[in-house]
Amino acid sequence: MTKHTVTYIKITLFLACLLPLARAAYILLGGMAVNPIEFITRSTGTWTLVMLLAGLAITPLRRLSGANWLIKLRRMLGLFAFFYACLHFTTYIWLDQFFDLTAVLRDIAKRPFITIGFAAFVLLIPLAATSTDAMLRRLKRNWGRLHRLVYPIAALGVLHYLWLVKRDLTQPLLYAAVLAVLFGLRLWWRYRPRSA
Ligand code: HEM
Repeated sequence: MTKHTVTYIKITLFLACLLPLARAAYILLGGMAVNPIEFITRSTGTWTLVMLLAGLAITPLRRLSGANWLIKLRRMLGLFAFFYACLHFTTYIWLDQFFDLTAVLRDIAKRPFITIGFAAFVLLIPLAATSTDAMLRRLKRNWGRLHRLVYPIAALGVLHYLWLVKRDLTQPLLYAAVLAVLFGLRLWWRYRPRSA
């Protein structure tokens, strides 16, 4: 894979990661019959989770396919996860809670699914803040240790979804299954018995 091809793939991925925003704008500005606050909250929440899982899928895909260039896409997926999480959180405090910080704090303390989502969001902040090459060089081995936080973050994201759904658990269970496979592969590679 040449450097140019990887650059084209990165540009395509970047545009693809913006598609959910374009779709949301199309639906909302086109006046389709949806509850806008509910729609934006759900859409940004879903895409946060999708980006997190896509980022976590890079290492297994790379290992199974031998396509090492895939690693060059991981940072972008992680940053898009953070971007959608910021939109998700902003929608919540702005359109849902009208910047009433006391009400937000009360909600975080009282509703477990909000507590869990908030914890995942807070944990994402240091990962986004240390996503640059300069921080990677500065933190050395600790960078890898810090970025292992992505595992509990993804688990909290899935738990947040499972907890907030009241009736049909199919969707969150699908995400949970994907996460289980991604964790399972890592555990297998780490602890499998090695032949002589
Ligand atoms: C990494 C962090 C987070 C992830 C991955 C995430 C993911 C999700 C997902 C997948 C949904 C459901 C989407 C659907 O129904 O299709 C959702 C809904 C929601 N999330 Fe989050 N979320 C995160 C953080 C937060 C935070 C920080 C808050 C607020 C403090 C929050 C508040 C909500 C609310 C209010 C809903 C809608 C609940 C409803 O429809 O009844 N989330 N989130």
